[in-house]
Amino acid sequence: MAEQFAVYTHPHKGQRRRLSMLSTKAGTLDYADTAALDEFHDELSAMMTNLRLHVAHEEATIHPMLAGCIPGGAERLEEEHRTGKHLVENLSAHLEGIQAKSPESTKRGALGLEFYLALNRFIAFYLDHINEEEEHAQAALWRYYTNDELGDAWATIQTSQSPEESIDNFEMILPALNIDDSPLCLLLLATRRLRCSRRSARLQSASSVLRCGQLSNRELGRVSAIQSGLEVA
Ligand SMILES: [Fe+2]
Repeated sequence: MAEQFAVYTHPHKGQRRRLSMLSTKAGTLDYADTAALDEFHDELSAMMTNLRLHVAHEEATIHPMLAGCIPGGAERLEEEHRTGKHLVENLSAHLEGIQAKSPESTKRGALGLEFYLALNRFIAFYLDHINEEEEHAQAALWRYYTNDELGDAWATIQTSQSPEESIDNFEMILPALNIDDSPLCLLLLATRRLRCSRRSARLQSASSVLRCGQLSNRELGRVSAIQSGLEVA
């Protein structure tokens, strides 16, 4: 059976991993430790930026395809996006409220626990949302669009990303993949693109992506095979 083009799977795998790491960190954080709290705030902000951009790409590219084959086919997902954005704004505002309190404030710990609980309510909501996309929206896309059309949509999303956004996505996605995930080749393309853009700092970052991917010998073999194929092409 021919492999069907899955537009959601890989970014969602990366987001699941990143959100689970944030949840663990929020549960173990000392909210009285200002430096640790500031660092966590930066990580949360980076994840929330990723989510906002991800949702914007879905709405610009995938949702018109869904609405084009099913009347109102994207309405539920867009309603969930609006709810998700609201929950994210609440989380950011609450965390910034904790940062504004004196490190000696006895309220920091209690407010931190409320943040942790609310973050996990958001994660539960978001995991349900992306499951809806993978279980139902993806199935509808497969029914009404060819692999080439889905590949074009995916390419549109990739080419509309800034270099910073692409790197953030690769660093998020790669450690969440296994050997059966094809975007290993995308990493190579990205590395090549970065090399061409002469961004040495970014190239270093791409190398760290490879390291954090912790590829096994079998996986590295597949990377080499893909790379050879690209070079032949
Ligand atoms: Fe979505």
